Amino acid sequence: MTYFADKQLLVTDIFSRYPATPQGRRSALMPLLREVQDALGYVSEAHMAEIARLCGTTATEVRSVMSFYSTYHTLPTGRYHLQVCSTLMCALAGSDELWDHLVSVLDVQPGEVTADGRFSVQKVECLGSCGTAPVVQLNDEGYYEQVTRTKCDRLLAAMRADAPPPPDNPVPVTVREDGRQMTAKGERVGASIHDLAPLAGGEA
Ligand code: FES
Repeated sequence: MTYFADKQLLVTDIFSRYPATPQGRRSALMPLLREVQDALGYVSEAHMAEIARLCGTTATEVRSVMSFYSTYHTLPTGRYHLQVCSTLMCALAGSDELWDHLVSVLDVQPGEVTADGRFSVQKVECLGSCGTAPVVQLNDEGYYEQVTRTKCDRLLAAMRADAPPPPDNPVPVTVREDGRQMTAKGERVGASIHDLAPLAGGEA
């Protein structure tokens, strides 16, 4: 089942952000992945193949790009996808025990979604917030920090009520559809990709 078949305008818009060259088409790989990921929560094999066709590359290359970033998922995720940092500082601060508690309480393993569709879990590498270990990331929304078992239980209860508190540390910068970068507080930062001057000769 194709995702982009009825989204020609969107595809054209994404490709217009890059030089009209083979390299430029391949540069569109990540925004195309992001589009599918945001809409469906994961990118299936069929959608990897579709994106590969659009970008003029192989599904293997698409998968290799996806595997580099823990924010892309190849399997369906729950409404609350919890990513527990398992790297050294978080491990020293108790993330292994936290992980064991989480999968035990939720009765879910990586690659599974709880029966109610709410939760899925994943171990990830250092989230860059070692000073606030152990860290749990919620979806792409931000980090819960210094997560004890008690705090974990409180967060899960709030998620079961579909009222999770905002992350302690929201994702600092997001990119809007128009290419504008915004902080979590809604302040503009950086430049819009639409403000960039075209490369000389249109070459990458
Ligand atoms: S080790 Fe967990 S955030 Fe760095």
